[in-house]
Amino acid sequence: MSELFVKINNQEKGPFSTKELKRLAANGEFSRKDLVFHEDTQEWIEAGQLDNLGEIFSPLETAETRKIVYAIGGGKGGVGKTSLTASLGIGLAALDYNVVTIDADLGGANLHTCMGILDPEYTFYHFYTMQRDSLNDIMLDTPVKNLKLISGACGTLGLANPQYFQKLRFINQLRELNADFILLDLGAGSSYNVIDFFIAADQGILVTTPDPMAIQETFNFLKVAFLRKLVREFKNNTLVLEILEREMDAKRGRMNSTMVDIIQEIEKGDQESAGKINTFLSEFKPLLILNMVHSNEEIKEGDTFKTAAKELLSIDVNYIGYIEYDDNVRKSIKELRPFILDNPKSKASKSLARLITSGLLKKDGWKGFREKHRVIKNVALDAEEYPKTNLRDSSTICSINCMYWGDCEYQEGGLPCSIRHLDPIFKK
Ligand SMILES: Nc1ncnc2c1ncn2[C@@H]1O[C@H](COP(=O)(O)OP(=O)(O)OP(=O)(O)O)[C@@H](O)[C@H]1O
Ligand SMILES: [Mg+2]
Repeated sequence: MSELFVKINNQEKGPFSTKELKRLAANGEFSRKDLVFHEDTQEWIEAGQLDNLGEIFSPLETAETRKIVYAIGGGKGGVGKTSLTASLGIGLAALDYNVVTIDADLGGANLHTCMGILDPEYTFYHFYTMQRDSLNDIMLDTPVKNLKLISGACGTLGLANPQYFQKLRFINQLRELNADFILLDLGAGSSYNVIDFFIAADQGILVTTPDPMAIQETFNFLKVAFLRKLVREFKNNTLVLEILEREMDAKRGRMNSTMVDIIQEIEKGDQESAGKINTFLSEFKPLLILNMVHSNEEIKEGDTFKTAAKELLSIDVNYIGYIEYDDNVRKSIKELRPFILDNPKSKASKSLARLITSGLLKKDGWKGFREKHRVIKNVALDAEEYPKTNLRDSSTICSINCMYWGDCEYQEGGLPCSIRHLDPIFKK
């Protein structure tokens, strides 16, 4: 690529090499919205519209290390995965990244409601039933310019347990979406339908509260996820499988042996496989977010989790930050607005902005400080355009496809679909 002239804040600058532009972008001094002079058409064009400039804005330095698909999971229900996915998407879009949030909670989709989109035109239902060929066809615009949504199908029978080929079709198409960040909001639990999405992503993000039960469930989720990854890698190796399956069968939240023991045992019969497991371990580095934190004491639970994961599973967990318990988050849910946007200056929003810039994008010091304020400032601008819904005033919000339709108490201006929490009652 030849050298380029750019217009930043209406001032013409340059010419710059790609390397120089990359450095400016990394410093937050050149964004997708700034103009670049396009030689072929002799016009000024937004940098974000020029495909060949894509790598300049990639979140990480090189194409090889660039991570695009992030899965937000963690086992325990109700810890804030969906609320965080929505606000994370908005925060990243505020930094000019192209973001797609995807509701991969097959049993109880509610990301669309959390984002104020009550009646999505297309959902996963259209994708899984082959009414639409590609994920691109079911991608919806949101009130935020750089942010798209792929909505789940609320309560539709049969989707909670998709066939293997359907899961594969979804996973294979994920990376074809044109985005800098693809955020998958996973359902609760450690079933293979949830775990398989977690391990298919480029980067897993564990979300838990500091509550001991939640920590234990998240630890179990992490263990099952890594073992599942290994089982799939070694599906034709009976020696390794036997050892791994013994640990998979261990009582929930317990471990028969540490990962070091497991690897040592495998090493005795199969050195090469033991070496491969060590390589997988060095590549599997989930991020951890602690949500609904009440005190400084509770913040430390993230470090405790990190230590336990290292000692027992030999997994390096990167604890990228915490978000306080904040009533503003609950209030935002009632207005169907992601919390960062409903009140950008709330405690939870500021913590998430810090988590995005220093935890996720690794911008520290002065750069991190400036980017954090850019998130808050830009999100506040987006908030002006974002619809506010008062659930009490709105009419029916549920889908006629919902399996609970006949029993649903929430049809007349009720809550975002939380009725699935009553699953065990209905199944009796
Ligand atoms: N930091 C917070 N402070 C206060 N309340 C919060 C916070 N984060 C989330 N919540 C509240 O917790 C509830 C559950 O959140 P959410 O639906 O995002 O959890 P989830 O992990 O996606 O649940 P599920 O596992 O059922 O999908 C919501 O009412 C939300 O408002
Ligand atoms: Mg959820």
